[in-house]
Amino acid sequence: MNTETESDRPQNPSLLRNWISLGGFIIGSGALFAFLLLFALDTLAPTSNPYVGILAYLVAPGFLTMGIVLVVGGALYQRRRRKVTKAIAIRPLLSVDFSKPQELRNFIIFVVIAGTFLLLTALGSYQTYHFSESVMFCGQVCHTPMKPEFVTYQHSPHARVSCSECHIGRGATWYVKAKISGLYQVYATLTDKFPRPIKTPISSLRPAQETCEQCHWPQKFVGNLDRTYAHYLADETNTPYSVRMLLKVGGGDPTQGPVSGIHWHMSVANKVEYIATDPGNQTIPWVRMTNPQGAVTEYKTPEFDGIVRKDLIRTMDCMDCHNRPSHVFKTPNEAVDLALSLGRLDPSVPFIKKEIVDLLTQPYETEEEAFRGIATVLSEKYSNLPRLKETIAEVQRIYGENFFPEMKADWRAYPDNIGHKDWLGCFRCHDGEHKTADEKQVIKANDCNACHTILAQGKGDAISQLSAGGLEFTHPEEGWEGFKCNDCHTGSND
Ligand code: HEC
Ligand code: HEC
Ligand code: HEC
Ligand code: HEC
Ligand code: HEC
Ligand code: HEC
Repeated sequence: MNTETESDRPQNPSLLRNWISLGGFIIGSGALFAFLLLFALDTLAPTSNPYVGILAYLVAPGFLTMGIVLVVGGALYQRRRRKVTKAIAIRPLLSVDFSKPQELRNFIIFVVIAGTFLLLTALGSYQTYHFSESVMFCGQVCHTPMKPEFVTYQHSPHARVSCSECHIGRGATWYVKAKISGLYQVYATLTDKFPRPIKTPISSLRPAQETCEQCHWPQKFVGNLDRTYAHYLADETNTPYSVRMLLKVGGGDPTQGPVSGIHWHMSVANKVEYIATDPGNQTIPWVRMTNPQGAVTEYKTPEFDGIVRKDLIRTMDCMDCHNRPSHVFKTPNEAVDLALSLGRLDPSVPFIKKEIVDLLTQPYETEEEAFRGIATVLSEKYSNLPRLKETIAEVQRIYGENFFPEMKADWRAYPDNIGHKDWLGCFRCHDGEHKTADEKQVIKANDCNACHTILAQGKGDAISQLSAGGLEFTHPEEGWEGFKCNDCHTGSND
């Protein structure tokens, strides 16, 4: 450590030769080392993550600054001490005489400790990097604000896709944006400033081409999907009422299949743009379509004020229909229908559908209160039910997976745009009111077979009698025509 010979050692050895400065030096170099490592990881990794940025650009420099402060502080302290002791016969702290066994031992101890420290810093930074990449970090560390998204995510088809695959994506372009919003999110969490519920859509979400389309490319032909929507009416017998239909999803690439059906919007050649007048993109008074030949058609509703503001125009992508691919907040109707159809709730109990939907939608303040409320009411109303305990547990499970009263997050806060029953969804544009200026062309609307073909519908056995040619929709009650479905259907009994 000491390179000077006895003869040229100055009268005043360096002020940095003191334990405080030495400690500062070790912390500082550890931090610098961690910074370089994190910086390299952050730059080279295929997916970047704002939280690594926080470690690399906030935490590591924080320790570096602390190290520097200690080095300087130690030197100042040393100077004061020397003034007091008149700097006579100060033995340089860091001189090591290898011929003295004790000094040699101290030196070895120092080298081992410093080496271990650097090694641990390296390991620590690498581990922290992995941790902050992980779903656990996004979903659990930030527990309260992220709970609704984390829980719903775990029950979605994307439960094995990491948060950053959709929210940050790959490549460097969106990197800075994600970093800044990540910093803000940590700040908002620490200071309890986050909104309840968290707002959607996320303005900084990366375009679908760079996230969804990494795994589902639009050229892929999906074809027709056969779906059954199992429902139970809110009557005494919980009458089953199901609809089975072929959804004409189609495809977007002329070389892989016909460009038609629902994914026509995603065709490589078609472009659909729109303007929404509300932050949630639920009211869309203006739509512009550009076909493969470049011909442009503009559709407007009577409400449109006529001003096409360029900065408000959005090009339609996957997220305009699949806006809940991962955070699926089931409506109480949907969740109870599913439990009934799976036999997890017993459809032979009178009015159980209606009761449970009512019970789920009470204004609870906390999850705990809801769980207690559910147990109390069910125990009172169904005291002689053979499976009372299982029923309570099932209703609590449904609540826990879909309702988050602390964050005011449930189906009411997050519209799902994929269909048209409980929210406007497709009918935001396909409502018969979007017309060209000459009123000659309308966005397809009242043709109930444009998007799907009903194969079977109704109560009980009716659902097993398939009609290949398709059926006209029969609604369980009269008087629905002329309205939009979501004028009456809201997802609950209200
Ligand atoms: C399959 C892709 C995908 C995955 C995986 C994913 N998200 Fe999302 N997330 C979305 C989309 C799409 C939205 C809605 C964006 C919109 O409407 O603009 C969203 C919205 C959100 C919101 C805003 C509130 C809301 O519900 O709309 C938060 C917070 C969020 N996600 C957190 C997470 C967390 C935490 C994880 C990991 C546990 C995660 N996301 C995983 C796609 C995903
Ligand atoms: C990292 C890869 C990955 C990314 C990114 C991704 N997904 Fe998926 N997605 C999957 C996998 C895996 C499945 C499950 C496949 C299956 O069930 O056949 C899936 C399933 C789906 C399904 C079918 C859901 C169902 O009900 O079965 C839809 C719709 C979907 N994804 C849309 C999206 C959208 C929209 C985005 C962008 C916000 C997205 N995905 C991003 C991998 C991904
Ligand atoms: C116009 C609305 C719309 C757009 C835009 C759209 N989709 Fe779809 N997509 C649908 C509908 C409706 C279905 C049928 C499934 C359903 O209802 O859940 C579907 C089905 C799918 C499926 C198959 C799901 C399954 O269960 O097998 C995948 C995967 C998918 N979409 C991915 C995408 C991707 C990726 C994009 C963007 C390139 C996209 N979609 C754009 C409406 C849309
Ligand atoms: C932002 C507006 C908008 C939304 C939202 C929207 N569409 Fe469309 N859609 C259009 C326009 C514009 C056309 C082309 C005009 C037409 O065919 O009437 C179109 C055409 C279609 C077509 C006909 C494709 C063909 O073969 O000609 C289908 C099917 C379709 N949409 C299904 C859906 C479904 C299903 C949804 C909801 C999941 C949906 N659309 C949501 C604007 C929209
Ligand atoms: C623009 C395309 C489009 C048009 C037009 C359309 N639908 Fe649909 N419809 C859909 C899509 C997409 C779904 C699937 C929603 C989902 O996967 O959750 C659906 C679902 C349904 C369902 C099942 C919903 C459930 O939860 O049980 C019924 C019933 C239905 N449509 C009836 C109709 C009737 C009646 C009309 C005519 C007035 C019509 N649809 C017009 C796109 C359309
Ligand atoms: C005037 C109000 C009204 C309109 C409009 C309406 N419905 Fe309904 N619908 C009802 C009522 C009331 C029931 C019976 C609810 C119950 O007993 O649970 C019902 C039941 C249903 C059911 C079976 C049970 C359930 O809860 O899902 C389906 C499926 C359905 N409607 C689909 C549609 C579709 C699709 C549209 C739009 C094309 C539509 N409805 C428009 C009032 C309406």
